[in-house]
Amino acid sequence: MQTLHTIAELRAAVRQHRQAGKRIALVPTMGNLHRGHLRLVETALQQADVVITSIFVNPLQFGANEDLDSYPRTLAEDQKQLAAAGCHLVFAPSVAEVYPEGQALQTLVEVPGLSDLHCGASRPGHFRGVTTVVCKLFNMVQPDIAVFGLKDYQQVAVIRKMVRDLCIPVDIIGVPTERAASGLALSSRNGYLTAEELASAAQLQQTLQRTADAVRNGNLDFPALEEAASEALEAAGFRRDYYCIVNRDTLQPARPEDDKVILAAAFLGRARLIDNLEI
Ligand code: PAJ
Repeated sequence: MQTLHTIAELRAAVRQHRQAGKRIALVPTMGNLHRGHLRLVETALQQADVVITSIFVNPLQFGANEDLDSYPRTLAEDQKQLAAAGCHLVFAPSVAEVYPEGQALQTLVEVPGLSDLHCGASRPGHFRGVTTVVCKLFNMVQPDIAVFGLKDYQQVAVIRKMVRDLCIPVDIIGVPTERAASGLALSSRNGYLTAEELASAAQLQQTLQRTADAVRNGNLDFPALEEAASEALEAAGFRRDYYCIVNRDTLQPARPEDDKVILAAAFLGRARLIDNLEI
């Protein structure tokens, strides 16, 4: 497995694979890899000949008071895991390589509407940072497909819309969430949890299951279900962010006849956890 740090080296490597007629997959990550990320790599390997994993902690998607500085950077360990998983190439650029003129002079890619809801409301500018860097990565690699985790449900929706709106010729593949035995969605940020918080964290998924059961049993008073779930999470030690039953495509409040997904985010200690469940 090769590790490359510059766009020029990356383009040269990709050109060779493309000339050999290979189908190329990109798996964008911020590193500190766990089983969830590796599941994306496995999916990519099933659907392409060459799998490129990018590792870049993107400053543009972090808010001023967020965890950019403390975000875990574990390249050597990540490389071992990716090599074992069968990844062909790691692209790990520096911040200066991705943003040579600094972020202030950066052209931005913004998906209006969808980016302002839910996580976007709690983290202003977050999705603009995500779509900008993902668009840049797509232009650097020019993959045939790109693989994302459905744990970040809104992120996948925003990226799908960007690709449609900008006619970017990349197929977006969504992969189901990888979980601990407790049901907790795996996340790099779970490392911020104390042992006690870790024991409570699974309640986020359990609460989603209870709400989904209630809807399936015919309770269509979504605002009341959302409030009850938020109160249950607070009783379990979470601080609320949002808990919404929404339409899977628009991410707007669901009508009873819609295909629905419950999106949830809540703080537990230092960590902000997100999860979701399709109904
Ligand atoms: P990061 O949080 O590192 O996640 C990289 C990819 O792994 C995302 O597509 C995310 O949804 C997926 N992922 C994380 N945990 C998962 C789990 N438990 N099961 C399945 N997939 C999981 O998301 C980002 O980085 C960034 O925003 C990025 C897209 C790389 C742009 O900077």
